[in-house]
Amino acid sequence: MTPVLTDAQLAQFHNDGFVVLPKFASDEACLALRERAMQLAKDLVPSPEQATIFTADSTATHAADQYFLTSGDKIRCFFEKDAFDEQGKLRAEAHLCLNKLGHAMHDLDPQFSKFSHNEKLAALANQIGMQEPKLLQSMYIFKQPRIGGEVNCHTDHTFLWTEPQSVVGFWFAIDDATTENGCMWALPGGHKIPVKSRSRVNADRTASYMEVFDETPYPTEGLVPLEAERGTLVLLNGTLPHMSGPNTSAHPRHAYTIHAIDSHAEYPADNWLQRPSLVMAGFND
Ligand code: FE2
Repeated sequence: MTPVLTDAQLAQFHNDGFVVLPKFASDEACLALRERAMQLAKDLVPSPEQATIFTADSTATHAADQYFLTSGDKIRCFFEKDAFDEQGKLRAEAHLCLNKLGHAMHDLDPQFSKFSHNEKLAALANQIGMQEPKLLQSMYIFKQPRIGGEVNCHTDHTFLWTEPQSVVGFWFAIDDATTENGCMWALPGGHKIPVKSRSRVNADRTASYMEVFDETPYPTEGLVPLEAERGTLVLLNGTLPHMSGPNTSAHPRHAYTIHAIDSHAEYPADNWLQRPSLVMAGFND
């Protein structure tokens, strides 16, 4: 396979735990994906009446948990928590209140599948040392103007656990991402810090809980902003602490992420994400 990364980029990925690759995807491909995501959002968004189940009484929490925990082999819509007013009503048109779509667009939607599977991604995964990479999940993140919320500092390994750790995040800027509209931030070299927690589901798969190994938060000093123009790919080691701020601007910050794991690694049954109706494919399948 033709190498995608220069030696310096590969070294940076290994040393820092991430590497930023401008112009990895074409504007045309990004805009086609964006259009498709907006259409899916309009087609699949729950009605405003149904949407209220995602606000907070305890039955609603149970329903919302089930909706999330069974979304690994589906395309579902998840709302921003700030999209609801004090009465639990949506503040804007429903599809403009979404936080994200997840988690199997790359398998179930032809346009997303086309974006997610190609030789260049296969070569890249190979170059960073993945033996048999398989696409585990996809998310389309809207980070809507004004209401797009922050994502706390975390590692992806915490939520997509494998033994040994193998998850890699492929994060594509679909809109330009800046510090104003909530770009990603990462801690260079932070992938060498032992992971502090592991998310698991209980035996009857009704709720997830956090197994905590280390109570101290990840350091926030040293986080660097990863501003990224449309088409940029940010590769993230699964143990790298990263976060994103709220979108305080008037501009959306759409992004698309794929999380791939190595099929040689064990995938525990108590990970929240399971895909009973789908088999995982590789990048060049
Ligand atoms: Fe993440």
